[in-house]
Amino acid sequence: MPFTEDTALELAFDAALLPASLNDKLAKHDLHIRPLASTDYARGHIRVLASLTSVQDPGEEPWKARFAELAHSNASATKYFVVVIVSKQTDELVATGTVFLEPKFLRNLATAAHIEDIAVDKSMQGKGLGKVLIEALTTLSENAGAYKMLLDCSDDNVPFYTKCGYETKGVYMAKYK
Ligand SMILES: CC(C)(COP(=O)(O)OP(=O)(O)OC[C@H]1O[C@@H](n2cnc3c(N)ncnc32)[C@H](O)[C@@H]1OP(=O)(O)O)[C@@H](O)C(=O)NCCC(=O)NCCS
Repeated sequence: MPFTEDTALELAFDAALLPASLNDKLAKHDLHIRPLASTDYARGHIRVLASLTSVQDPGEEPWKARFAELAHSNASATKYFVVVIVSKQTDELVATGTVFLEPKFLRNLATAAHIEDIAVDKSMQGKGLGKVLIEALTTLSENAGAYKMLLDCSDDNVPFYTKCGYETKGVYMAKYK
């Protein structure tokens, strides 16, 4: 499939919020970073997420309904950023990551950012794309005024996040139903 320019897509948020320097970095690999688009189900969004965890394919229409929900929630103030990296050769997604902003009452109404769902397609791992995603999400959060960026990960991924400038802090707990 020929590469689709951002201008031809319905994006979940303004692409200008992403640092342009990241696309300069990715251009030499024929890759492009941008916000999630309303047609990215067809570009393999669920396939890329499957490199992170078990993912049930919801089907295109429910996926689009979720996209509309997120884009609508961003209409007043962008709170939920899903970023993707696309191959310019195939127009398929090769990586994705999310950050959402949490408005707080403490610290003079501060904002915290939560990084989630970082996934690089298996065939593209180890080429620096994970680092680019984290840089994009961190910069978005800082520009949106977040005073801290939080994420949880397996022990195996600690060295990756350390390389991205993150440090181990406290203990993460969870209860799954
Ligand atoms: C973890 C993941 C996002 C890393 O992305 P990636 O594109 O493969 O990583 P990068 O190529 O950007 O690596 C950046 C640096 O971290 C290092 N690194 C990456 N994964 C590592 C690991 N598991 N152990 C040690 N170092 C690691 C790289 O060697 C590289 O070091 P360098 O900057 O000195 O060259 C990717 O492998 C992935 O999607 N894994 C499956 C899903 C997953 O676990 N997601 C994270 C959920 S918390």
